[in-house]
Amino acid sequence: MVHAHMTAWFLAVILFFVALGLHKGGKQKGFKIVQMILRVLYILILATGLGLLFSLANISMMYILKVVVGLWVIAMIEMILGRKAKGERTQVLWIQFIIAFVLVLYLGFSLPLGTYIF
Ligand code: HEM
Repeated sequence: MVHAHMTAWFLAVILFFVALGLHKGGKQKGFKIVQMILRVLYILILATGLGLLFSLANISMMYILKVVVGLWVIAMIEMILGRKAKGERTQVLWIQFIIAFVLVLYLGFSLPLGTYIF
């Protein structure tokens, strides 16, 4: 489950940058398709994340925080792409994306399941 989760979010982050590249290159059709694939990946990230969560005997506050920050990352990816599509500013969202992404990696790798780095 940890590996499925890792694969899903890693792929989502790569496709996020692919979508940004397509948008910059003016390839609107490709951008829309990647945006759709990303939405499927959100569901996979969520499902595998919840799978990990419910595999635990007791869910501590740090896990709740991990879930909230994980959802924050997904929300930022979706909102940045949504605003890009409309030609609106994304600066504030980018700052949030970076903070949330660093936090989610720290929390993910410091919590006991799977890889334990911090
Ligand atoms: C793009 C968003 C997300 C990223 C980048 C992310 C990243 C990570 C990382 C790096 C780990 C550690 C894996 C390991 O230890 O090998 C992890 C574990 C986990 N994630 Fe996520 N995650 C995201 C979204 C979510 C969501 C939405 C949920 C809940 C619905 C969730 C729930 C969990 C749980 C419960 C764990 C196990 C924690 C542990 O290591 O003990 N994640 N995630």
